[in-house]
Amino acid sequence: MNVQKLTLTNSIQEFEHAKSLIPGGVLGIRRPYNFVEGEYPVFFDSGKGGRVTDIDGNEYIDYLCAYGPMIIGNREEEIDDAVIHQIREKGFCFSLTQRYQNQLAQKFNELIPCAEMSLFVCTGSDATTTAIRLARSYTGKTKIIRCGYHGWHDWCVEVKGGIPKKLYEDVFEFHYNDLEGLKALLNEHGDDTAAVIITPFGHPLAEEMQEPQKGFLEGVKELAHHYKAVCIFDEIRSGFRISMGGAQKYYGVTPDLAVFGKAMANGYAIGAITGKAEIMRRGESDVFISSTFFPNSLSYVAALKTIEILERDHVLEAIWEKGTSFNSKIKALLEKHNTGARLTGIAPMMFITFDKDPAKQYKAKRTDFYTQLIRRKVFLQPYHHGYICYRHTQEDLDYTIKAIEEALVFVKENY
Ligand SMILES: Cc1ncc(COP(=O)(O)O)c(C=O)c1O
Repeated sequence: MNVQKLTLTNSIQEFEHAKSLIPGGVLGIRRPYNFVEGEYPVFFDSGKGGRVTDIDGNEYIDYLCAYGPMIIGNREEEIDDAVIHQIREKGFCFSLTQRYQNQLAQKFNELIPCAEMSLFVCTGSDATTTAIRLARSYTGKTKIIRCGYHGWHDWCVEVKGGIPKKLYEDVFEFHYNDLEGLKALLNEHGDDTAAVIITPFGHPLAEEMQEPQKGFLEGVKELAHHYKAVCIFDEIRSGFRISMGGAQKYYGVTPDLAVFGKAMANGYAIGAITGKAEIMRRGESDVFISSTFFPNSLSYVAALKTIEILERDHVLEAIWEKGTSFNSKIKALLEKHNTGARLTGIAPMMFITFDKDPAKQYKAKRTDFYTQLIRRKVFLQPYHHGYICYRHTQEDLDYTIKAIEEALVFVKENY
């Protein structure tokens, strides 16, 4: 069953205006071609809990969760109140550091298996880049072997415009769950390799998600150590989402260093590097880590409050429970309608993709499927997995299951 296209007049108008003011109108991954152009809104106005409203007044159930930070939901009062209290009663931007960094680092030591010392920065890209710099300093080596998306900085961004080759020519990539690929790279570059960095749960760009095969993460760590390289887990998406101790706790493999961001502060900008003191201590002298805004305490306060709520209300357990039932209902629908759609991922983060076919019909199916969803006000990204947040209600999830079924029926009738 087809439904009417949404009214997006304001979004489209605002985007046209934006293009004359901001290069590309809006930044990278938020550009319309990353969704279904003309069907998705371009600008949001507000959000509350698991819902967001665009500037034309359409309200959506939001499963993109700001690309990951929304672990509880938008405008979570307890967190915002803590931040507002900080603004009003204390202040947050000073020439010296406030004390919250110690509390947060202490909390990391309690929760995260690899944590002995920590550093806090503003973004996930800051965190991955700092981890790489620490590893290069610690090992005295240069090369990096990577697996996954690690941000927009020179050494790892996919789009190479404006970056001299020498800044990324020592970085090599292997595929998730491909130990042989990693072995081959280390065979060639191992003696010069400073770090192997990997997203411990597999979420490659626009592709199906993967859990580690038996022995994979253990193998990555073992191989890295064999070549005296630092093993780094990029937990920017998995941290404070898969478990309070990240994927390393969930899968039982402890890296040397790990980086966190996104969910740890429910939307406030913070990134973290944590791990073995021996490596982290390179930040005492050899590695310079400083920025005007790194010690800005609003994000620390938000992170401390977020973590307090996650622990107190057993938020991640609730998300796993909701997501498990949600995913099993989706799987049943995919089997019933047999459109070539596939669900991958785990309860807190899932992705519906379409199996590739030689005629490339999967692309049109994907466009139709996600068009039907957005028209039903279900905000999922065609090229990126979704997330469940704590404030998604059972009603939201049930509505979404119904919308997914209708979208699948639409695809089935058209191909
Ligand atoms: C696994 C992973 N690492 C690093 C980053 C970079 O984080 P940020 O966008 O906060 O710089 C991201 C962002 O999506 C990510 O998913």
